[in-house]
Amino acid sequence: MELKLAPSILSSDFFALGEDLNQVIEAGAEYIHVDVMDGLFVPNLSFGIPVLKSMRRHTDHFMDVHLMIDRPHRYVERFCDAGASLVSFHVEADQPQDIFSAIRTVKEKGKLVGLALKPRTPAEVVFPYLDELDLVLVMTVEPGFGGQKFMADMLPKIQTLREEIERRGLRCEIEVDGGIDAETAKLVKEAGANVLVAGSSVFGKPDRAAALEALRNA
Ligand code: DX5
Ligand code: ZN
Repeated sequence: MELKLAPSILSSDFFALGEDLNQVIEAGAEYIHVDVMDGLFVPNLSFGIPVLKSMRRHTDHFMDVHLMIDRPHRYVERFCDAGASLVSFHVEADQPQDIFSAIRTVKEKGKLVGLALKPRTPAEVVFPYLDELDLVLVMTVEPGFGGQKFMADMLPKIQTLREEIERRGLRCEIEVDGGIDAETAKLVKEAGANVLVAGSSVFGKPDRAAALEALRNA
């Protein structure tokens, strides 16, 4: 599948968010990854609907919203209305019937939908939902913070998901999130991921275009 880069604004300098966004968009980033944390599903708080709305007022670029929040079915519609292009939420964060209904809500809003898995959640947990999904997000660190070390033991999970997606003939993307740099990018691509989230390895570098190029060519 087509390789896509998704810089995570969690590692942006929020005083210069507009400038940071423009740089990565100009450099060809396909997605902007937006990490929403509620201090409950993960032990950290980030930003939410007002920040997404404000970015949406200034760009029509693809906004890849990653909800790390408890019982996401309560909020998915509002994130769609605030300007998300794709909404992902965690399979661990809601009851199965509420996961199904949240998937339906996002689709009815005309947006793409993804399910995310924490490192300890096996690939098989998303199988019942797979036919409905545009994307599966495999966390390669414990969600909550940027700048953590990539967990190489997630590679077989990516392979398992890619095999199942192929077996069913689906067009579902596999996104990886956490500790992705030029070295680990190579490993996840080989395992079958096609959307690479990168926070610190992009916004932590002065030359964002070069950082994205390094991930693309990895
Ligand atoms: C972590 C977030 C990630 C984070 C990745 O919970 O979901 O998107 O921004 O940051 P890096 O690329 O620095 O690991
Ligand atoms: Zn994320």
